[in-house]
Amino acid sequence: MTKQEEISMLKKEKDAVLLAHYYVCPEVQEIADYIGDSYFLSKKAVDMPHKTIVFCGVSFMGESAKLLNPEKTVLMPDAGADCPMAHMVSEETVKRARAQYEDLAVVCYINSTAKIKSWSDVCVTSANAVKIVKNLPNKNILFIPDRNLAHFVAEQVPEKTFIYNEGYCPVHEHMKAEEIKELKNMHPMAKVLVHPECNSEILKLADYIGSTSGIIDFAKNSPDKEFIIGTESGVRYALQKTRQDAEFFFPKTEPICTDMKKVTLDNIIEVLKNGSNEVTGSNQQTDDAAKQTLTRMLELAK
Ligand code: 13P
Ligand code: SF4
Repeated sequence: MTKQEEISMLKKEKDAVLLAHYYVCPEVQEIADYIGDSYFLSKKAVDMPHKTIVFCGVSFMGESAKLLNPEKTVLMPDAGADCPMAHMVSEETVKRARAQYEDLAVVCYINSTAKIKSWSDVCVTSANAVKIVKNLPNKNILFIPDRNLAHFVAEQVPEKTFIYNEGYCPVHEHMKAEEIKELKNMHPMAKVLVHPECNSEILKLADYIGSTSGIIDFAKNSPDKEFIIGTESGVRYALQKTRQDAEFFFPKTEPICTDMKKVTLDNIIEVLKNGSNEVTGSNQQTDDAAKQTLTRMLELAK
C-alpha cells in the first residue's frame, strides 16, 4: 500500500478531513481534501461534518479550528510547526494602547496565538483585513502582530489612525527587493504579485498585493503569461496547476517557511493512526474570548 492509499484508508476509518495551507509540501497538497489561504481554511473548519480535522499547517491554524469547533478532534501532523510571528506582541503593548487611546479597536491578524486573540476585539486575515477594518466603527486601530500588513491596510483606510507593533513574518520580511528587481529586468513583461506580509520595498514593486488565494486568483484570471511571485514558494504547486501555460519566477533566495514544511505524509499517517498531537485549548476564559474574536471576523467578512 502506498502512503497516499494508507492516508485515504485511515481518513475513512477515523472520519477525518485534511485541510492544508498553500505553503505545505506539494505531496501534502496533493492528498489534501481542501487547500486554501487562512481565511478559506478558517471558514472550511466550521463547515466540515467530519469528527476529526487534520490541519496541515502551523499551530495557530489548528488552534483556530479547535476554537471554532470545540467538539471536534483537531490533529496537527507536527506539534512543533509554529509561526514565529504568531507570538510577536506583548500584552503590555495592548494594555498601553487601551489606556492611551479612546475609541480603539484591537485588530489581530489570524497569525497569532489564542492568548493574543483573547486580548483583541476582532481577528482578520490578509484576504479580509481591509474590508473589516474599514467597517469598524472605531477611529483608532491597534493592529497586531504584523507591522507590514498593518501598513498595507492603513494605506487603504486613510480615514483611521493606526498604532503599529513590531511583529513580522521572517520569510516575507527578509525577501530582497534587489532579487525582485533582477527578475523584473530578466522578465520585463512579468506581473509582480506579492503578499502584504512583505517588507515595504517589495510592496512598492508590486502590480498586485494580496493573500495567497488572491495571488492565485490573479494569475488564474490574468491574460499575462509570466509572473514574479513574492510569497512562500509552496504556492508554486497551486499556481502551476491553475496556469499550466504560464511561468512563475521566485526570488533566488527561495522564500521557504520551514515550519510549514514540517508537515509530511509520514506524520499525517502517524497522527491519523494514533490520534497524537491533538489540539487542546488553554483555559475556558481565554478560549471563549479568542473564539469571539474569530467569530466576529467570520461575521464581518461576509
Ligand atoms: P494567507 O494564506 O492567509 O495569505 O496567509 C499567509 C501566511 O503567512 C499564512 O501563514
Ligand atoms: Fe508564519 Fe511567515 Fe510561515 Fe506564514 S510564512 S506561517 S507568517 S512564518
